[in-house]
Amino acid sequence: MATSRKISSLLTWLLVTEAINCLPQPVSNFVTGVATSESDSSLRTQYPPSNQRIAVQTATPTYRVALDLSGHSSQLPFPTLDLSDLLGGLDGLLSPQTTVSPTASYHGVTSGGDSSKTDDDPSGSDNSSSDSDDSPSESEGSPSEATAFETATHATDTLTTDPPTADTQSTITSITTMGENIFEPIGTGAVPASIKTRNDHPIQNQHANSTAPIETNKFYAGLFLGSQTNASFTQPYSLAWSKGGGTLKSWGMAVSHVEDNLLAYGPQNSKLPGSPVSYYINPIGLQHVILSATELNESTVLVTEEPKAFSAQAVLKRSAGSSQSITFPIVQGMGYITGVYRNLQPQVQSGTFFRKIVDAGSPKPGIFKYQMYLEDGTTWVLYATPDDGTKPQFNLTTNTSLNGPAGYSGTIQVAKNSAGQLGEKFFDNSAGVYPVAGTVSGEVSGTSGAYSLSWTKAGKDADQTPLIMFALPHHIQSFDNDTRGRATDVQLRTTTKGNATVVIGDHWIMRESNLPTDMGFSPWSPLTGNIAALSASAQRTILQVAPLELQQSIENQTNLNSMYYSGKALSKFATLIWTVSELANSPNSTHAALQELKRCFARFVQNQQQFPLAYDSVWKGIVSTAGYKGDLNADFGNTAYNDHHFHYGYFIQAAAIIGTLDPSWLADNKEWVNTLVRDADNSIEHDAFFPFSRSFDWFNGHSWAKGLFESFDGKDQESTSEDAMFAYAVKMWGKTIGDASMEARGNLMLAILRRSLKSYFLMQSNNTNQPANFIANKVTGILFENKVDHTTYFGNNLEFVQGIHMLPLLPNSGYTRDPTFVAEEWQAIFAENASTPASKVEGGWKGVLFANLALSNPRASWDFFAQSNFDYNWIDGGASRVWYLAYAAGLGGSP
Ligand SMILES: *[C@@H]1O[C@H](CO)[C@@H](O)[C@H](O)[C@H]1NC(C)=O
Ligand SMILES: *[C@@H]1O[C@H](CO)[C@@H](O)[C@H](O)[C@H]1NC(C)=O
Ligand SMILES: *[C@@H]1O[C@H](CO)[C@@H](O)[C@H](O)[C@H]1NC(C)=O
Ligand SMILES: *[C@@H]1O[C@H](CO)[C@@H](O)[C@H](O)[C@H]1NC(C)=O
Ligand SMILES: *[C@@H]1O[C@H](CO)[C@@H](O)[C@H](O)[C@H]1NC(C)=O
Ligand SMILES: *[C@@H]1O[C@H](CO)[C@@H](O)[C@H](O)[C@H]1NC(C)=O
Ligand SMILES: *[C@@H]1O[C@H](CO)[C@@H](O)[C@H](O)[C@H]1NC(C)=O
Ligand SMILES: *[C@@H]1O[C@H](CO)[C@@H](O)[C@H](O)[C@H]1NC(C)=O
Ligand SMILES: *[C@@H]1O[C@H](CO)[C@@H](O)[C@H](O)[C@H]1NC(C)=O
Repeated sequence: MATSRKISSLLTWLLVTEAINCLPQPVSNFVTGVATSESDSSLRTQYPPSNQRIAVQTATPTYRVALDLSGHSSQLPFPTLDLSDLLGGLDGLLSPQTTVSPTASYHGVTSGGDSSKTDDDPSGSDNSSSDSDDSPSESEGSPSEATAFETATHATDTLTTDPPTADTQSTITSITTMGENIFEPIGTGAVPASIKTRNDHPIQNQHANSTAPIETNKFYAGLFLGSQTNASFTQPYSLAWSKGGGTLKSWGMAVSHVEDNLLAYGPQNSKLPGSPVSYYINPIGLQHVILSATELNESTVLVTEEPKAFSAQAVLKRSAGSSQSITFPIVQGMGYITGVYRNLQPQVQSGTFFRKIVDAGSPKPGIFKYQMYLEDGTTWVLYATPDDGTKPQFNLTTNTSLNGPAGYSGTIQVAKNSAGQLGEKFFDNSAGVYPVAGTVSGEVSGTSGAYSLSWTKAGKDADQTPLIMFALPHHIQSFDNDTRGRATDVQLRTTTKGNATVVIGDHWIMRESNLPTDMGFSPWSPLTGNIAALSASAQRTILQVAPLELQQSIENQTNLNSMYYSGKALSKFATLIWTVSELANSPNSTHAALQELKRCFARFVQNQQQFPLAYDSVWKGIVSTAGYKGDLNADFGNTAYNDHHFHYGYFIQAAAIIGTLDPSWLADNKEWVNTLVRDADNSIEHDAFFPFSRSFDWFNGHSWAKGLFESFDGKDQESTSEDAMFAYAVKMWGKTIGDASMEARGNLMLAILRRSLKSYFLMQSNNTNQPANFIANKVTGILFENKVDHTTYFGNNLEFVQGIHMLPLLPNSGYTRDPTFVAEEWQAIFAENASTPASKVEGGWKGVLFANLALSNPRASWDFFAQSNFDYNWIDGGASRVWYLAYAAGLGGSP
């Protein structure tokens, strides 16, 4: 990756800055002239004497292997389809028709007025949405977001002279010329009047101090959920409040960084070639370094301030209301863990024991360094930057406790240094500054897109000092040249995404090309692009099958007690109608079904489904009311913000098709659909009603499905294909309503997903980010922030585990699922001679597998779906044979 030439230029730059900033400083008579010395012997070694060694770690790692099922009822991803109405027409199907029957017969059932469902609020606490507080003013809208890119973008830092800082006065370049800003507001008004506001969310907010919308699915939710003791995963570090627990009974913030020798592995799966382990897991509870203070005790409280997309501030207060505190800016990718102390006596602890502490002088004026050697063989550095500039003398009082002076105000930063003196130079150079919050900006121009992550920073000489940030593998792959030039060779492993790399500077730019801008509702392949026309023979076969599926009861399949299942069915019927109307060229035969689909969709827009939606004014978002009845797991935990991108994605995709087939439909429905987009994928930070980008994590490059459930292993996601479906739905809805920014955002999200899924989730044999003994599973199964488990929440069958990363098969599938990967997976698992031949799989999963096969072997896929003895039990409730036929045909499978 990094060339030695680049490293030498970085070092040259460092030496230049060192000449300016790092002259030896006789800051006290205690430490004189050691600041820039390379010789260990001139540094002062503290207690214990070097011949004392503690062999045993007290902090025993624990491994939470059990699946945390919260919010995930063990339900299959599709409802059991009542085939009675479908099979009634089987005779007609088996004797091939050459013409389509009159449309009227497809929909005998068109019930009139639906029984008017009243809202089911048990407490009668509905507040009309127009009463919602914090109506955003014009000025709170998007302008800062929309222009953020220009201010965040600083071109070519010249490494040999200027450190890359936000204040470098260099040419400001746009990432693309005339690009479309992907973060224009969707809308900032109140939610539709049909959606009632309620403030009685089953999970009340006790620890996040914010009146703004709160991110529910981000990496730091452990700070404010439940016991407040589960970890926040900034990568490569994780942080957890010790809260009197652990072997040291500390009340400080514990930092953990796990090397791969501490991973625990599941049993090998001999069904798969290579017998991969079924999971790997990082231990929890390790407290390598704890930033605490001697005054902290059972009165100490943890308050989460400014919960944003890329950061939150964790504030440990000596007691509620005390001004004595430590504030930890918790920022994804942060290079050091920084505690900003206010009038407390620092106590730096280690659950793995200090072997040796070295007072390493002052790398820069006013910044004081200690090297910390732990008993597990790792080396950390500590930088203290006191507000008053005087050297704080830290003393090792026991082999677990390094104490600073009483009444300390200033920062203490720690970092694990895996790279010896070279690594330490980088950390020296950026010491004293830290990121406070991050911003994403992005543009798309044609089929190229770029996005930038940039950070505001604070600390001593912040203006002249570049940040150190850790980048994930998928960032590095798409860095532009300038950003790549600031990447170093210093790495630390992350918990579940391979190695993170130290990058110098306050912003990164990532570029993506080959955005799928031409992808529509029709089959799509990377080689041919959008496939608008099917062969006459494929059309004939589709029209033979169509009547049977068009005559299913849309009403019965969409009027359900689940947003997820209802959305899937709406999406299935929309896709079916599109296929028959546009791909088989028979719009008239779908007329009645389209009318019925609109009627069934309207039930949701009017909010008269079995469990209506509510606007939750506690966390601020649109949730199902199913979970207000006592079972938070109802409807896959929608009420607690699980899976919103899955649930709403299906509605959004269905709406895009309906609105494309009948643009007049949009006027009455656009606002409601946009509200779903705002809930799961809001495009701006300053919207009083919804947090920015609830689901998609622009740092990790994919979404997290877990909402407000306290979790040992952090957030997780089980279905990458439904994540991609959501991005695709956003893109197509944006296109349908003429919101070019939304369309561009969906396109760029798909491009980022393609990269991140390939890097971490859909493992080709040459994957380098997941453990070598794991990648033969081909898919991760559920990827958590702390473990990866080749399973699902609803069972271990291989067709479930692999299939949940396939469905729904839609035009985007060929974009995010590389044909090489699809072929490898099939060969390893589903081929005739493999452990789980697709031909022997039962039920709807069989259809999923064979539709997926179209990506690598469209002919075999076509032959499966076109066979004369086709069994409709092979089609799950979220799919249609018609679409699968069209899909295989479009990809080249039909005669
Ligand atoms: C309804 O809204 C009013 C005004 O915002 C507020 O005072 C009241 O507490 C709310 N009631 C409920 C039950 O949410
Ligand atoms: C919450 O924040 C406000 C202002 O930002 C502050 O005045 C208040 O003390 C904070 N509350 C707690 C519990 O920390
Ligand atoms: C550390 O030890 C030195 C020398 O014994 C003493 O002057 C200083 O006060 C001690 N500092 C703390 C924080 O205990
Ligand atoms: C980026 O670097 C590559 C290889 O060093 C070079 O071929 C390419 O032209 C550079 N691109 C830009 C925009 O400078
Ligand atoms: C990750 O970093 C470690 C050193 O920390 C190194 O041994 C390993 O080879 C790296 N892995 C990859 C895939 O680069
Ligand atoms: C819809 O469901 C109802 C109640 O289960 C049933 O009576 C009716 O036959 C179903 N309609 C169709 C078309 O399947
Ligand atoms: C389709 O319907 C339109 C009007 O509803 C009618 O004019 C047209 O002839 C029909 N086309 C076919 C092929 O039936
Ligand atoms: C983490 O979350 C789990 C699940 O809610 C809880 O039981 C546990 O106490 C929390 N804290 C730790 C340190 O495990
Ligand atoms: C893996 O192989 C594919 C070709 O099949 C290639 O495109 C990709 O870059 C390789 N990945 C890595 C990490 O080497």
